[in-house]
Amino acid sequence: MSERTPQRAVKAVIPAAGLATRFLPATKAVPKELLPVVDRPVLQYIVEEAARAGIHDVLLITGRGKTSMVDHFDPHPYLESRLEAKGDLTRLAAVRRTSDLAEIYTCRQGEPLGLGHAVSYAESHVGSSPFVVLLGDEFTEEDKPLLPQMIDLQAETGGIVLAFIEIPDDQVDRYGIASVSDTGTPDVVQVTGLVEKPPVGEAPSNLAVVGRYVLPAGIFDAIRRTKPGSGGEIQLTDAMALMLAEGTPVHGIVYRGVRYDTGMPLGYLQTIVELACQRDDLGPAFSAWLKDFVAAQKA
Ligand code: UTP
Repeated sequence: MSERTPQRAVKAVIPAAGLATRFLPATKAVPKELLPVVDRPVLQYIVEEAARAGIHDVLLITGRGKTSMVDHFDPHPYLESRLEAKGDLTRLAAVRRTSDLAEIYTCRQGEPLGLGHAVSYAESHVGSSPFVVLLGDEFTEEDKPLLPQMIDLQAETGGIVLAFIEIPDDQVDRYGIASVSDTGTPDVVQVTGLVEKPPVGEAPSNLAVVGRYVLPAGIFDAIRRTKPGSGGEIQLTDAMALMLAEGTPVHGIVYRGVRYDTGMPLGYLQTIVELACQRDDLGPAFSAWLKDFVAAQKA
């Protein structure tokens, strides 16, 4: 008698080929994934989040003007030898860390035709195993991991696992919102439907989809069968809705930590301020300055 050994996701895909229009003109030549949050690019926080969950195989979906993202994770022997010669061991360790985090693979999405279209490029790298998708402009709080629980749940169900945050009722029109039923386990829900940006007052819940997914390999076939949807793009949400309608179990985990959304200027600035205040080296001086600055604005 052989029991099915659950397959666990061991690879991550980071779609980062979008046009980043909400951040123009900054993102005309610089990928938004490389914008710095204090002294690390956003993308490094995301790869670190994957690495903390035990995922060290990362496929970056890049596009036109985005190849510099990959350089960040390459070893840089010349820079390292200069830092070593200067005795700057702290920065040397920080530089080396970027190339030790994960094996980075890349492929190119020739034209940004949607998130579903971007994910479809991962098929040959991922094969028939489940995998994690991390959107390239958001990340979670270091001390409150989300991915391990998502990966465990996906290995148990074999289906799709999403992540949600609870948002105020008057903000539902900015997010994808899920209709859900209870599973009996706190903060784990069964997803029965997804609606994109419903009008305030018409949302089935206040659970908003965030950019972390654990998907079975069946998603590739579903994407192939998905026609262009909103904005003429091939949407990952539409492909997941197709699988849900065909009986694939879809669950969600309600995340109780902070989710940093750096995809637009306001969220990006909030992220920098919050993380700068938390730093042992910069935090005390920066927080003191910030308090004085805010007080002076009120006066
Ligand atoms: P967004 O919806 O944030 O789109 O995509 P965007 O192009 O990055 O930014 P805006 O909305 O124009 O300001 C979510 C994630 O999916 C990737 C993006 O790079 C981002 O990480 N994406 C989106 C792709 O890789 N390819 C696409 O065709 C679309």
